[in-house]
Amino acid sequence: DHFMLKEIFEQPETVAQTMQGRIKATPISPMKFGVPAVDKYLVPRVRLGGLVDYVSIIRRSRRIIFIACGTSYHAAMCSRQTVEELTQMPVGLELSGDVLDRRMPIFRDDTCVFVSQSGETADTMRAMEYAMESGALCVGITNTVGSAIARASHCGIHINAGAEIGVASTKAYTSQIVAITMMAIVLAEDQISKRTRIDEIVESMLDLPESLRMCLQLDESIKELAEGLKDESSLLVFGRGRNYATAVEAALKVKEVSYMHSEGINAGEMKHGPLALVDEFMPIIVIATMEDADMHNKMQGVIQQLMARSARLIILANDDDTEMTEIVQGKYPIVRVPRSDTAVQPILNIIPLQLLSYHLTLKRGHNVDQPRNLAKSVTVE
Ligand code: AGP
Repeated sequence: DHFMLKEIFEQPETVAQTMQGRIKATPISPMKFGVPAVDKYLVPRVRLGGLVDYVSIIRRSRRIIFIACGTSYHAAMCSRQTVEELTQMPVGLELSGDVLDRRMPIFRDDTCVFVSQSGETADTMRAMEYAMESGALCVGITNTVGSAIARASHCGIHINAGAEIGVASTKAYTSQIVAITMMAIVLAEDQISKRTRIDEIVESMLDLPESLRMCLQLDESIKELAEGLKDESSLLVFGRGRNYATAVEAALKVKEVSYMHSEGINAGEMKHGPLALVDEFMPIIVIATMEDADMHNKMQGVIQQLMARSARLIILANDDDTEMTEIVQGKYPIVRVPRSDTAVQPILNIIPLQLLSYHLTLKRGHNVDQPRNLAKSVTVE
């Protein structure tokens, strides 16, 4: 019925398109005698044609800085940890407009990665011109072949998600995370110590289309959830680690199309202010998938603290998380998503939240593809 819904439902195919011809299906580290085999020659698992000639320059740079706006900024925020984990390089994250406002120091041995669906966003384009003047290597990650950022950058990655028409960016977000994750893998392929980890991430990425299809089956139950939330004036979304990005992206989607106030909050910051907002009326979505044991424990603690304050919760958890069933005791709805690798899980987690913003908007009677005051490409500063 709407481009936004079409684009949400295209994601099993669009993430596959982003990976197509770039990821090798066979593991590079087959197990021999219970330990990963170390091959004489490193066989790369991922190949990104647009970066081939620049990989060694990026590896030698002082730091990598991701620069973007809106949803593209959130995609970089989400994948940043994977780049840090695999490359062990300092990885910065900046809003395009803020780079210019601060006249941020950028140096010739920096790599600046500009992430933009349209490739035409004025703030990001200006930030790239500024970084070019500083002599930094400029990498473009865009969805639009021939766009200003694709043409002016030194090298880059096309995310190949196909034209995105809905003003709310959905399929570009998941493909941007896939593209940045592939970039992280390419940068780490020279390190034998990272090969097993690369295999783990790649295996989960290859499962993505199927896992995304499972997430899309949540559509009907999310529609019901939206019915119960449609008259609220505010919605909080709590997440941490990579899922802090999921929380802020979900909140952006909700406010952008449904015009409901929404805020993504880092659950680690809860005690430093946001807890004051918690009462039995304020709806709070808590993203509590099993990132890793430590993160899961922390999120369980957050849920228990919120429960102690009679909060009104909606939990996002993995389908095999039985502990969550015990903690929640049927008091709150639990949205279940398939389990994946920690680097890939946020790509699944955002799907029910994109669907929620879509259904909330229809139920509140607004134009989901063309929200007021917004344009698809923000070509003015
Ligand atoms: C996303 O839903 C928004 N419409 C908006 O935040 C957008 O992501 C931002 O304007 C950046 O656009 P770009 O990716 O085309 O640069």
